[in-house]
Amino acid sequence: MEPNLVSPSQRRNFLMIMLGGVGSLLAVAAGWPLVRFLMPSDTGDAASQVAIDRTLVTPGTAHLFQFQGRPAVVLQTAPGEFVALSAVCTHLGCIVQWQEEESQFLCPCHAGRFSTDGSVISGPPPKPLEILPVTLDGDQVLVG
Ligand code: FES
Repeated sequence: MEPNLVSPSQRRNFLMIMLGGVGSLLAVAAGWPLVRFLMPSDTGDAASQVAIDRTLVTPGTAHLFQFQGRPAVVLQTAPGEFVALSAVCTHLGCIVQWQEEESQFLCPCHAGRFSTDGSVISGPPPKPLEILPVTLDGDQVLVG
């Protein structure tokens, strides 16, 4: 019979390292769907410019669309004046919602609030919403 070359403490350390590794892998596997749910989709139209019919953006309303595969929003802040913003919250990446009665954006995840120019009104977002370039071309609002 061969003598046992591995001491009980070495065996215990090996098992603890293996359990830690397996536990870490399980934690990553379990958390990944939640991370993907909270992050905006990377897929979608990668066009550098998006044309939106002006009739879809009446004064005081907002129109959500996809810009380079990410949610964006255009609104008419005053007759003939359009603003386009990323709709991705700068806190943890949730999609902001337009609150027409209050004329501001609300992030449903942690109640971050943004003004119509994208600046932070309240809540945890550290930065304003990204401003997207807008030009007008006849009946079209061109973003990008
Ligand atoms: S993700 Fe928008 S406030 Fe936290």
